[in-house]
Amino acid sequence: MLVSMKAILADANEHNYGVMAMNSINIEMARAGILAAEEEHSPIIIQFGPGQMKNHAHMEEMVPVVKELAARVHVPVALNLDHGSDFHIIADCINAGFTNVMFDGSSLEYEENVKRTAIISALAHGMGCSVEGELGHVGQAADADDDNLDLYTNPDQALDFVSRTGVDALAVAIGTAHGAYPKGKIPRLDFERLHLLKETLKMPLVLHGGSGSGEENLKKAVAGGINKINVCTDAWQAGKDAMLKALEEKPETDYMHLCMAAEEGIKQFVKDYMKVIGSSGRYIYGESVSGSRE
Ligand code: 13P
Repeated sequence: MLVSMKAILADANEHNYGVMAMNSINIEMARAGILAAEEEHSPIIIQFGPGQMKNHAHMEEMVPVVKELAARVHVPVALNLDHGSDFHIIADCINAGFTNVMFDGSSLEYEENVKRTAIISALAHGMGCSVEGELGHVGQAADADDDNLDLYTNPDQALDFVSRTGVDALAVAIGTAHGAYPKGKIPRLDFERLHLLKETLKMPLVLHGGSGSGEENLKKAVAGGINKINVCTDAWQAGKDAMLKALEEKPETDYMHLCMAAEEGIKQFVKDYMKVIGSSGRYIYGESVSGSRE
């Protein structure tokens, strides 16, 4: 069932587990994620960003697909706009039925980030849609932004940001970055900062750049208060790997069976990920096993 992201993250925050938010750019990916969630009795967040919607995951096509797939399962599914920045696109997504929008003002000067995020929050909340903001800046792994301490989130500033913007979840910069890290590198996360952020904010926190973080980091991040983990690069790689394997085993494999192989590969990847971040087994017959649904 399609639900607000706020409801999913409220349960995760209360019971200290992480929920996967997968950038799902076609039917196969959305179906892989949602069916994996059903089999794992786990919530899931399906998301795409403005660039992905422009290139391939066209909003008019993908929103009905996600709504239809979500309606077929018992577990909670949210639909999130990832890294929104353009006001018109965000408004279109809210009108189309996204159950959360992210406004990413993390590259703006602080007061401008506060101002714009607060406007988006007021608009979205009035339409029953929740909001994720970002403070600090999660940059690119290719630029080694994960090592740039200047970009990390300041807990005191974060408290001011949340109280003035009313966001429902906050993306924090604690040492991850988007995209693939250089070969062999596993990022070093600032768990002390995460602990301070959680203690100060007591709200759902989001980790962007989940790919390549390593199982141990992910588990520690969830234990430290991360409730939503964004995953794109690793999920796309799982689909690509499955296609390559199918081709290697049988070079004459046709297009349909390549798509099916990719879907199966992504589904398995998602199921494994859910076990690592603790969301497996949280919902039975649509109800949180801990009984704390909003
Ligand atoms: P990765 O591609 O590093 O998983 O990052 C995804 C992300 O954070 C989307 O917002």
